[in-house]
Amino acid sequence: MKEQLVAKKILNWYDLNKRILPWRKNFSLQKRQYYTLVSEFMLQQTQVATVIPYFNRFIENIPDLKSLAKVENKKLIKLWEGLGYYSRVRNLKKTAQVVIKNFNGKLPGNFEDLIALPGIGNYTASAVLAIAFNKPYIPLDGNIERVLKRYLYLKKVNEIRKDNIIKKKSIFGSSSRSRDYAQALMELGALICKPTNPLCNQCPISKKCKSFKKNDFDLTKNIKKNIEKYFLLKVYKKDERYLLIKNTKFNFLKNLTIFPMEELSKPKNFNENLNFKMSNMKMNIKIQYLRNSKKFQSPYWISEKKLDNYMLPSFTKKIVKYLERN
Ligand code: ADE
Repeated sequence: MKEQLVAKKILNWYDLNKRILPWRKNFSLQKRQYYTLVSEFMLQQTQVATVIPYFNRFIENIPDLKSLAKVENKKLIKLWEGLGYYSRVRNLKKTAQVVIKNFNGKLPGNFEDLIALPGIGNYTASAVLAIAFNKPYIPLDGNIERVLKRYLYLKKVNEIRKDNIIKKKSIFGSSSRSRDYAQALMELGALICKPTNPLCNQCPISKKCKSFKKNDFDLTKNIKKNIEKYFLLKVYKKDERYLLIKNTKFNFLKNLTIFPMEELSKPKNFNENLNFKMSNMKMNIKIQYLRNSKKFQSPYWISEKKLDNYMLPSFTKKIVKYLERN
């Protein structure tokens, strides 16, 4: 199928089938740029359905780039609580500050300037250019990659390498409706060309899809190695309150509030009390109850009863709940 026909068919399908999402409404240019930035940061590692309420709450509380640049970290983290990968929200704020300072408060509309901003990589820069600026970019997210791999039947290791996928992207052609086209491709992957049981009978491009012809929809997995780690977690309790500290030691949950912990390398006879999965890391956690908490210089003492009042990562809350049960 000619590239422009592919684009036309996908856009026709999108016009009839797109989901109504809060960041897809018709906004002024300024608002669209800010909303695209916030939604794309949230969508970097989180599913659409989860993001919707977070997005609405976020823009209600922080309505524009200017307020984001000076928002209190406490409020920011609270609005992000539960979304995980907190470095995203710290970078989002830093990006707002740089845009205010260096770009007169207007998000830059070119790739080089965007990619230099904190937390913006190839994917987010392309998504922002397409969605906020209607420029002919196709951001390669997991959904679009899947459509491409299936359409062209790319299964071999050298075929699914990133550089090849980027090259092959040209089969999607382009459209003057770049904003819609980028989202139409994502939507096709999310709603039709699903990871398992794709709905080919509803797909606008199934006629020329190689996987459809071969009736083989399996995808070669990019193997992301799971790692297993072991931690000794230290619990100090005083007057019904637990001691927490700011995490400056581990790369995960950086600068957030956690129980004091120490990583153990391959311990023998490790009887963990609980597990926690964080990204591709399986954390095995053994709890140690201790008394003398003097060595911690600026501890936070938190009470289980007021758990909802604190800005804490889900990880820490889960541990408090475990401690209360046991
Ligand atoms: N995933 C990333 N960006 C998206 C968007 N704008 N709409 C739907 N899913 C997305």
